[in-house]
Amino acid sequence: MKLTLKIWRQKSPNDKGQMVTYPVDNISGDMSFLEMLDVLNEQLIETGDSPIAFDHDCREGICGSCSLYINGEAHGPDRAVTTCQLHMRKFNDGETIYIEPWRAKAFPVIKDLVVDRSAFDRIMAAGGFISVNTSGNTIDANTIPIPKQDADAAFEAATCIGCGACVATCKNSSAMLFVSAKVSQLSLLPQGKVEAKERVLNMVNRMDEEGFGNCTNTGACEVECPKEISLENIARMNREYFKAALSAE
Ligand code: SF4
Ligand code: FES
Repeated sequence: MKLTLKIWRQKSPNDKGQMVTYPVDNISGDMSFLEMLDVLNEQLIETGDSPIAFDHDCREGICGSCSLYINGEAHGPDRAVTTCQLHMRKFNDGETIYIEPWRAKAFPVIKDLVVDRSAFDRIMAAGGFISVNTSGNTIDANTIPIPKQDADAAFEAATCIGCGACVATCKNSSAMLFVSAKVSQLSLLPQGKVEAKERVLNMVNRMDEEGFGNCTNTGACEVECPKEISLENIARMNREYFKAALSAE
């Protein structure tokens, strides 16, 4: 395949940045999107140009670091896959592909396609944990009976990889899908119920402080989420938040 790539280049956080056009050739449909960018970067290095900075780690849909906006869609045109799982067979020979970083005030661009998602880490530090007795007489988690539907819902919420596609795709740059998945994953289980009230208040407050927008129930986040995290988590988090706020008064 022969492609024309229009890629966002930005030298540093304060640089204005611009779209730059690059032709690439000999791209196989079996390559992943990131492998296609590797091919381009090798060409750029050979010609003395600086390679395009983009985030990646596991390259198998687990770590959530590959965050690209491709032809106006977070993680590109395929459903329920991350950018590293997207294959070039989804594109046509001769196509022009637009590649941009996540765009959100709370995710400032560091360089080219790399954004700073440490706001997610700070939200997790505000409450995304449980306190466990590690004194030596800890109860085996498997001895606590958990209803199957709660275990399943907690597991599904726990599949969120923190990629940030929900924020990037939301017209309000809301982080509600991410935060609600993290709140649900813990509060649905007995071990997470102890701190459930403080957790939801602290995580939602931190989310607001980081500059993420509010949810207006558009649902774009659920469509673009590579792990198909459900909007039901947002409804659950809202219920928990109101209950916790009322009982704190
Ligand atoms: S909810 Fe989905 S889109 Fe948002 S961070 Fe988690 S995995 Fe990514
Ligand atoms: S590189 Fe880890 S999810 Fe894509």
